[in-house]
Amino acid sequence: MSGLPKDFMWGAGTSSMQIEGGHASGDRGRCIWDDLGEVPGAIKDGTGANHRGVEHVEMLEVDLNIMKDLSLDSYRFSISWPRVQPTGSGAFNEKGMAFYDRLIDGLLERNIEPNLTLYHWDLPSELQAIGGWTNPQVVDLFGEYAAKMSSRYGDRVKYWATMNEPWCVAWLGNLTGEHAPGIRDLPTAVRVAHQLVRAHARGSQAIKSQSPKVLVGAVNNLTNPMLNGEATQENLKDLQIVDGYKNRWWMQGMYEGKYPADLVEIFEKETGIFCDEKEIGDVSFGRDWIGLNYYNADVFSGGGTGVGLFPGTTSIQGAGYGTERTDMGWSWTPDGIKTTLIEISQKYPDIPVFVSENGSCYNDGPSEDGKIHDAKRDEYLTLYIKSCVEAYKSGVNLKGYYLWSLLDNFEWAWGFEMRFGLVHVDFKNMMKRTPKESALAYRDLIRSSKD
Ligand code: NOJ
Repeated sequence: MSGLPKDFMWGAGTSSMQIEGGHASGDRGRCIWDDLGEVPGAIKDGTGANHRGVEHVEMLEVDLNIMKDLSLDSYRFSISWPRVQPTGSGAFNEKGMAFYDRLIDGLLERNIEPNLTLYHWDLPSELQAIGGWTNPQVVDLFGEYAAKMSSRYGDRVKYWATMNEPWCVAWLGNLTGEHAPGIRDLPTAVRVAHQLVRAHARGSQAIKSQSPKVLVGAVNNLTNPMLNGEATQENLKDLQIVDGYKNRWWMQGMYEGKYPADLVEIFEKETGIFCDEKEIGDVSFGRDWIGLNYYNADVFSGGGTGVGLFPGTTSIQGAGYGTERTDMGWSWTPDGIKTTLIEISQKYPDIPVFVSENGSCYNDGPSEDGKIHDAKRDEYLTLYIKSCVEAYKSGVNLKGYYLWSLLDNFEWAWGFEMRFGLVHVDFKNMMKRTPKESALAYRDLIRSSKD
């Protein structure tokens, strides 16, 4: 890793809903993922609403010590809104807030920098009942929640993200319905896409109102759309549209306060809804850093009739790339992380960038020797990290890299059967944690990068 500065931040990430567990313990309010868990078939492995996550709340000290043993410089986590404010408005829950005090203090005691995300998909159910993210009132409530969190933790947490992967929230949650709240309606998805951009502006302003010195950004799953094979003019036009959905809507909206005209036009044509960029608000408070979550390129081929997830496309279809697939079926595109980082830094040269998530799903379990030999994860990470280093060397202002995920956990619509963790969790045996071979390799990489 020679060539990276010594203060480069090596980390790992998780999110509240994926590790903390359900509302049944009585410790937190309900969220939209609890509700989706009650819909038969919505979670592929049959996990219901009341799962215990990986009992991270109960095993906090164990997990903090694992992070220390792995020599992490930083830990990215999210706050469960319904844990700190059970219904998303009104009274805050002291017990829930005290949990995050313990987490943050435990990190700082171990010299691990906290990186906090306010919204990683667990919207309080009561807010969905009033329209969820389509309702501008929810944006105001998000601002109140953000201000409260900032006044509580802003003295100890320097890195803040308003939200994680809003593209998934809008489109997977409200057009395909595979994510909570499980809606399948284009106008709803468009409204949500607009209000989430507003929520970033509003939330970052609220964070800074309480803690002016912290660094605020957003975490997006940006991508490099690619065409496999010959491309027609029509295909290239479609690729631009995909770029609009995945990249430009969020980056221009959240970091510039502007919407891409082509997308505004598509939304208006398809739904009659005009997204007015004048409603976004002041974005100047939330552009201290850029978080990139990257797993694979969006790959297409011609000869199709358009992709339903990207309304307005007419000639492309989804395609794979190369021969390697993770256990999620996702292609390996390590060069793409470099391409995407370079594109971000060309557009926003003054804003530092973090890879806020990168990782792979391989479902290896313990072998007879008791170890977890996840050689494919190791190989995948080596290639992707190498590509990040190349991006840095070519001038990208890359400050850190967070591996997804610290722990095997609740992989949303897949339930617990898809494992992204560096640390294996035995869901059937006391949630026992065992670092995989890739975790030990990552630890060695971090240690050697400080020499
Ligand atoms: C991105 C999401 O932020 C995270 O929650 C999820 O587990 C990973 N992608 C893997 O799908």
